[in-house]
Amino acid sequence: MTCMSRLRYRDDRPHPRPFLERALVGKVDYSKETVLITGASSGIGAEFARHLAARGASLVLVARRVDRLETLAAELVGTTCAVIPLDLAEPDAGPRLLQAVGDIKVTSLINNAGFGTNGAFADDDPERLTQELRLNIEALVSITHAFLPQLSGVLVNVASNASYQAVPYMAVYGASKAFVRSFTEALWFEYRESPLKVLALSPGSTKTEFFDVMGSEVKVGGIQQTADAVVAAAISALDRRNPGPGVIPGFSNKAMVAAGKLVPNRVLVSATGKLMRGQGE
Ligand SMILES: NC(=O)c1ccc[n+]([C@@H]2O[C@H](COP(=O)([O-])OP(=O)(O)OC[C@H]3O[C@@H](n4cnc5c(N)ncnc54)[C@H](OP(=O)(O)O)[C@@H]3O)[C@@H](O)[C@H]2O)c1
Repeated sequence: MTCMSRLRYRDDRPHPRPFLERALVGKVDYSKETVLITGASSGIGAEFARHLAARGASLVLVARRVDRLETLAAELVGTTCAVIPLDLAEPDAGPRLLQAVGDIKVTSLINNAGFGTNGAFADDDPERLTQELRLNIEALVSITHAFLPQLSGVLVNVASNASYQAVPYMAVYGASKAFVRSFTEALWFEYRESPLKVLALSPGSTKTEFFDVMGSEVKVGGIQQTADAVVAAAISALDRRNPGPGVIPGFSNKAMVAAGKLVPNRVLVSATGKLMRGQGE
């Protein structure tokens, strides 16, 4: 009787995945995936669209600049693309996006939209900080929660190297990315026995419009990478049998994070603060 009830409990566990299946799963077959990418109008998001289109995925492209999204969709000849212009920094991003997507069954999600602010915290515009928190954190959580029940392919949340330490003069941005990485790594564990592959992507400095939007070029970090290299690293990590919980693209970025773990936090934050002070002014 005890044995029977234990067996029943094991069978009722959510998302069970047989051992053999788990051992064999590796490369993602994107031709079976419909991938929603936020922030697809430029930079890393647009590059995700190009890489995944080349692997046969259907795409749902989301950002505010609809002209950019339509140009990208036209570039991806032979790919099924839906374009959704939406401001994700407005409240209830998840339910609004779910409604906008309509009948399309999204099976993979890339939460990439985000922006940064820099400068002394006291001088930051509070309205801009609120938008930053809404987009980088609130929208990401809301969209993840809204779409998770239908996801079975990949879930990538774009964090940053800045998530590995406090970043003076980019205090809110760094903290927002620490949230993204922590949140995503927790979900990685919760979904480790499901078919869904969860990954926190933590790029270092990457050549995109990010610094134009922020209004300054911050020269801290490893060698600046292309968005193409960042996305290639993420996609290659997802093709592993057991990816995650996170990936840091590029050797110099990996080395910086590793070195940061070897010194006391006080030293790390002070060194980062000294490097950041005066940048972008
Ligand atoms: N570049 C770097 O050095 C770097 C390093 C680490 C992490 N990251 C992260 O990588 C992600 C992508 O950034 P990126 O470097 O590719 O910068 P980017 O070229 O500026 O792209 C940002 C994307 O986010 C979208 N976006 C911004 N505000 C939005 C809003 N309110 N609603 C909907 N979409 C919005 C933008 O589209 P619209 O303006 O058309 O809305 C754009 O497509 C971000 O999360 C960023 O924090 C970047």
